[in-house]
Amino acid sequence: MAAHDQAASRAFPGPDFHAVLRWIHEALNPAVYVEIGVLSGCSLALVQPLTLAIGIDPCPHEDGRWPAASRIFALTSNEFFSRHDLHHIVGDRGVDLALIDGLHLFEQVFEDLCHLERYMAPGGLIAVHDTIPLNRETSSRLRTTEFYTGDVWKILPWLRQYRPELDVVTVTTAPGGLTLIRGLNPQFEHPRLRDRTAGFVALGFEYFEQHREEFLRTISNQRASVEAFCQNTPVQSMDSNGAVIPSR
Ligand SMILES: C[S@@+](CC[C@H](N)C(=O)[O-])C[C@H]1O[C@@H](n2cnc3c(N)ncnc32)[C@H](O)[C@@H]1O
Repeated sequence: MAAHDQAASRAFPGPDFHAVLRWIHEALNPAVYVEIGVLSGCSLALVQPLTLAIGIDPCPHEDGRWPAASRIFALTSNEFFSRHDLHHIVGDRGVDLALIDGLHLFEQVFEDLCHLERYMAPGGLIAVHDTIPLNRETSSRLRTTEFYTGDVWKILPWLRQYRPELDVVTVTTAPGGLTLIRGLNPQFEHPRLRDRTAGFVALGFEYFEQHREEFLRTISNQRASVEAFCQNTPVQSMDSNGAVIPSR
């Protein structure tokens, strides 16, 4: 195992991201799941037997193992949402669960979140992978390492500042944490916030180190905690110093 993977396993002990995603699927049993960034289908394969799974990725692996009830679109997420109305593919009710794990740059994660929120079903949940950076090198905007979270983490301070009404927690799971977002509003007017992202692009890793307790609200990497959040029941969350935050 490479050094960065070992460091991530030490930082986030317990079940990994795919195990946590499986708990979420089992807890929610979503009718419709959308995944941005499918690669070879390891995360898409975790869907429940009756879930309609939509995968979006410009380069899905040709030998990927795709679930029976799935449709793969070989497009970037921006291309997909400019060409398709997701309601025409999944129906009017919309999306129950979505995963953002595509291009690991903050501004693209912001776009993916905006696109998906328009289609979320009542009570729907969006998960974002790789939101806890390991170090400066693996969270830089220019990728130089195999292990890589990019600057996805900047979506956390952005959400804290501009969408405080959303319920946002991050599961401390390797390799890079998994953020869960609830309380989404398909009618939310994103365009007025698009020009408020530039300042976040410029933030460096030191901002995360110095300010993480202001925006990083974690829940433990345990099935009961993840299920409680999915089922909208109280779950104990912590700030980055481990201090308990009262549930809302
Ligand atoms: C980390 S991998 C996804 C891993 C997968 N979710 C899993 O857990 O097995 C990231 C994927 O995002 C895809 N990707 C890159 N840019 C993208 C974009 N603009 N829109 C959608 N997917 C993108 C890549 O082709 C790659 O397959």
